[in-house]
Amino acid sequence: MDLRVLYLIQLGSCLLGVGAGSNTEEEEEERPEDAHPPGHKSHHWNYQDIHQWDSDYPHCGGPEQSPINVVTSATTFDSNLRPILLSGYNVPPSRTLSLENNGHTVVLDLPDSLLIIGGLPQTYRATQLHFHWGSQDDPGSEHTVNGQRFPGEMHVVHYSAEYSSATEASTHPGGLAVLGVFIQEGEEENPAFQNLLPYLQNITEEGESIEIPGFDIRGLLPQRLDRYYHYDGSLTTPPCYQTVNWTLFNQTILLSPEQMDLLEDTIHADHDHILQNNFRAPQSLNGRLVLSSFSPKVSGRRLPGAAPNPAGTSPAPDNSSPNHSSQGTGESVEASLSTGDMLAIIFGVLFSVTSVAFCLYVRRNRSRNKRLGNENKSNVIYKAATAEDNVA
Ligand SMILES: *[C@@H]1O[C@H](CO)[C@@H](O)[C@H](O)[C@H]1NC(C)=O
Ligand SMILES: *[C@@H]1O[C@H](CO)[C@@H](O)[C@H](O)[C@H]1NC(C)=O
Ligand SMILES: *[C@@H]1O[C@H](CO)[C@@H](O)[C@H](O)[C@H]1NC(C)=O
Ligand SMILES: *[C@@H]1O[C@H](CO)[C@@H](O)[C@H](O)[C@H]1NC(C)=O
Repeated sequence: MDLRVLYLIQLGSCLLGVGAGSNTEEEEEERPEDAHPPGHKSHHWNYQDIHQWDSDYPHCGGPEQSPINVVTSATTFDSNLRPILLSGYNVPPSRTLSLENNGHTVVLDLPDSLLIIGGLPQTYRATQLHFHWGSQDDPGSEHTVNGQRFPGEMHVVHYSAEYSSATEASTHPGGLAVLGVFIQEGEEENPAFQNLLPYLQNITEEGESIEIPGFDIRGLLPQRLDRYYHYDGSLTTPPCYQTVNWTLFNQTILLSPEQMDLLEDTIHADHDHILQNNFRAPQSLNGRLVLSSFSPKVSGRRLPGAAPNPAGTSPAPDNSSPNHSSQGTGESVEASLSTGDMLAIIFGVLFSVTSVAFCLYVRRNRSRNKRLGNENKSNVIYKAATAEDNVA
């Protein structure tokens, strides 16, 4: 290969790398932590300093972290996993629920009368649900399946009924149970989410909240609660306690393009930035087992004890082979490739690798400088987090 071409590629990568690097720098400088009054908790961490979470929150560096990438062929079918059984999920409109923009996500507080009464080894009480999303161009789920990232993910957080609060439960193994739901884009408006999403316009600024009328929370979940993955993991945000019994439903839920836009483009944080890409990358499994309540070989198989679909609702599509060719990173190259395409791909890869290496180099240097500057700060021992921080 012509060396001059390679040289040009290197040069290009460097310029790109410098551009990207200084961009992030600007972003970070616009949100210095000191600009916030002390005790402003939500700024103790953010999605820009994700690789330094463990310096302030040591659990984040632990061996059983979340999210993970679920490799479906490596899951273990466990015929003892019963369908998730819920109780009290239909909240009457007279009972209002608080919806808050906490600067990391939007959180709907749930009454502790909502219960998981089946499918897990103990009874769990609901405390809140919240969302993770990407942007118009990029998917933003936290968990991935076979390397595929979904447009969004909803987490319904519960705590063991053996404890008196989510905060207390959050430090005990199995103390928390989170139901994870992948969000995909469909054509139709999802009526259940109309009870929630339009109110995002009322809480665009960080710290704002609104009381909304109760509704059937069950409607936010997929129809089939019998097909799921299970593993033991952690909170996906600081303090990253490794106390979460995770359930990831195999069936996804669908939002219309308008609903998806509302989720991705409405919530602001950090001095008016739109809050996007509020997800953490998959963490190492470190030998943990991922159990599956269903056998992948018998797709759509119903377990003997599975609850029938609620009457009167149209059957949701079985997303066992979801169509999301516009999403994610794991695209397969199907068409046969011409030599020109091949060359383009090779050059593309070379280009990206060099840029990434350069960015990493710039980042590492920058964070080294930053860490030196912040030495005193890292010694501060944060007081126990509030329930809100625990579960967001
Ligand atoms: C989580 O729940 C599964 C059953 O769904 C159970 O096998 C496992 O022991 C539980 N783990 C913890 C830590 O409670
Ligand atoms: C929420 O925002 C909408 C649109 O801006 C407005 O019409 C509505 O009155 C607001 N509702 C409340 C309860 O503030
Ligand atoms: C659902 O299960 C099928 C069958 O194993 C798998 O191909 C698909 O990727 C799964 N989807 C999700 C979202 O778990
Ligand atoms: C899947 O995506 C392709 C390409 O975007 C599209 O042509 C096709 O109609 C989609 N199929 C379904 C079932 O949505």
